[in-house]
Amino acid sequence: MIHQPTILLVEPTHYDVSYSINPWMDPGLWASDPRGMHRNAVASFESLHAALQAAGFTVEIAPGAPGLPDMVFPANAAVVLDGHAVLARFRYPQRAGEEAPFARIFEGLRERGLIDSVSLLPEGCYQEGAGDCIWDAVRGHFWAGFGPRSSRAAADAMASHFGREVVALELATAQSYHLDVCFCPLSGGEILYYPPAFTQDALRILRERVPASLRIEASEDDLRHFSVNAVNLHDQVVMTRTTPHLRAELGQRGYQLREVDLSPYMLSGGGAYCMTLRLDRTSGPARASAAADGAAVAA
Ligand code: ARG
Repeated sequence: MIHQPTILLVEPTHYDVSYSINPWMDPGLWASDPRGMHRNAVASFESLHAALQAAGFTVEIAPGAPGLPDMVFPANAAVVLDGHAVLARFRYPQRAGEEAPFARIFEGLRERGLIDSVSLLPEGCYQEGAGDCIWDAVRGHFWAGFGPRSSRAAADAMASHFGREVVALELATAQSYHLDVCFCPLSGGEILYYPPAFTQDALRILRERVPASLRIEASEDDLRHFSVNAVNLHDQVVMTRTTPHLRAELGQRGYQLREVDLSPYMLSGGGAYCMTLRLDRTSGPARASAAADGAAVAA
């Protein structure tokens, strides 16, 4: 497996918005100017690529496939930790066709030594990759979203596969259909999250585990800007053009924001995190004490 911060992107050649499986998706707007929209999407992709490199990532780019526009969101393709990838199973038929090409992509990464193994999820549950199973490097466990897309049972499957704790949080709204839309752990131990996206039970679990000083509540405006859907490496945060609220809040806490216009992808319900997949995450030693004092120690 690789050890330097490495992130997977999928090229946007076949990207469009031609169906709707979440409330942000607007095929009508895309259809009003498909060529212009696609041109903007390619330009946005290039800006994201550059911002990720500037933030310190090595970027791997995989090909997309015709008829599978949402392959540009590889966060949904797999969960990767310690060199092991578990491939996703998609809830909607519109995206299920991505499973085969992503399996080939991961097999290629394995052959090149970037990851060590590729596994399938047990039968009978859905799991939409790192979009619904987010590694918290400070606390040394996964946070898993379930409800709209991934099944509750998938959280337990991930826990037994990786041998790490998985804290399952139920998502309460169609708007926050993946955990990464409304939840983002940062390197200093903070959790940026949008409270109305979660059930009361999920909020209780989250607040028991994360002290108030480390909880950053996103506003509805932050959510609409897809700002919670951010990519963080040390003090670097790559995200869509954000709000004055989050610029101030994250700036005060020592983060450097790299904002990219990702509006063509927001039209499909995606932001920066959705468009990426970290390949180098390691479980390492649990870092629970760092979470308590808020020290910035983890990637
Ligand atoms: N149109 C895609 C879908 O609805 C967007 C996926 C965005 N990815 C994410 N991890 N939130 O599945």
